[in-house]
Amino acid sequence: MKTKDQLYVQEITQFKTKEQFWNPHVWYKEMREKSPVFYDEQQDTWNVFLYEDAKKVLSDYQLFPSARDRSLIPVPLEENKVNLIFSDPPEHKKRRALLAKAFTPRSLQMWEPRIKALVDELVGNLVPGEPINIVEKLAIPLPVTIIANLLGVPTEDWKIIKEWSDVLFLSHDLQRVKELKQLKEQAGKEFGAYLYPIVVAKRLDPADDIISDLIRAEYEGSHFTDMEIVHTVMGLLGAGNETTTTLITNMFYSLAEDNMAAYGQLRADPSLAPKVIEEVLRYRFNITLDRRIGEDTDIFGPHMKKDQHIIAWISSANRDESQFPNGEQFDILREGSNKHLTFGGGNHFCLGAPLARMEAVLALEAFVKRFSSYRLADDYIPQDHLGQNSHELKALSIILEE
Ligand code: HEM
Repeated sequence: MKTKDQLYVQEITQFKTKEQFWNPHVWYKEMREKSPVFYDEQQDTWNVFLYEDAKKVLSDYQLFPSARDRSLIPVPLEENKVNLIFSDPPEHKKRRALLAKAFTPRSLQMWEPRIKALVDELVGNLVPGEPINIVEKLAIPLPVTIIANLLGVPTEDWKIIKEWSDVLFLSHDLQRVKELKQLKEQAGKEFGAYLYPIVVAKRLDPADDIISDLIRAEYEGSHFTDMEIVHTVMGLLGAGNETTTTLITNMFYSLAEDNMAAYGQLRADPSLAPKVIEEVLRYRFNITLDRRIGEDTDIFGPHMKKDQHIIAWISSANRDESQFPNGEQFDILREGSNKHLTFGGGNHFCLGAPLARMEAVLALEAFVKRFSSYRLADDYIPQDHLGQNSHELKALSIILEE
């Protein structure tokens, strides 16, 4: 069924079983080999599975613009109007420049000690010898506390912030359209009512944080209004939370299960941590990105019509053998793993990528320093811990050895 404002990947994959959600790579490989450019009639959507094609979709904003009325991105449509992710040059340049003022390399350098202190506290609290859920103990609290701290909202409120942002970013689900719309409207209202007074107070009394940076930010005479800052902050909390949680969770899964030698290699040479993170991003991160088709084109072979939509299957592109030899193997020494497209490409390349990378690398370094090894708990079965119709692990039970 084609709906007005949403795209549903699940209607395209038709995955039904936990096994399919947990290991979509069987299907991706088949698509790369047999139907790398595929038209889904039901959703009137083109799909590309190869690396070069996915990269082209992300980088050619004239042929594949981001301004669109249907998307996989599960934020309420009203917010699209201020959200830079749905804009194209020249408007995108302006919106991004305002936001980029808060994400400079200098900011990152200033944030490093705060991130390190939290990482040390969270890793310090991990207890060896008994099963612990590393998602709950580290992968969830780290990104949400950090982003709350950097934004300048009270970090002790992280649980409610996480709840709101989780609801706002719940994936589209054709079976729950009305229910999800209501839930999101309610969460958006509550979250907005929470953030608005914080923004107003900071306008009077700015501090050393991202909300104050956004208040000060100026680009060719434009400033953000209070409501734009509220929506931007909601967007940042959503963009940076679940994604970084997934990265950290996947990192623990991959190092335990995808390559038995990897953790030992890393203990022997902890400077490999950034490479490990790139390989996790490439190998074990499920992501699809969509665009509108800006004009009729035959660029991928078949004729695609203006205003149809196109999905770039990033996780498939990230295992395309033409770019990543032995792509189905998790190899922390791989050359060029950072060519992955998990942070996107072109003008919308993830603004928070340096922050996400820094959080994951610092967490891994602190963990490796403290624990000689770890393994999955004996009774842990990943397929039993996936979110609803999702590829992501909501819990990961591991046993640590000091
Ligand atoms: C592992 C963690 C993350 C992943 C995998 C990720 C992935 C992405 C991707 C794929 C895009 C491009 C979307 C598109 O082209 O349609 C994007 C954009 C963006 N991300 Fe991230 N992200 C992560 C973490 C973060 C964090 C921590 C922040 C900030 C706190 C952030 C803020 C943004 C923003 C503001 C954009 C929009 C950029 C633009 O449209 O110009 N992300 N991210």
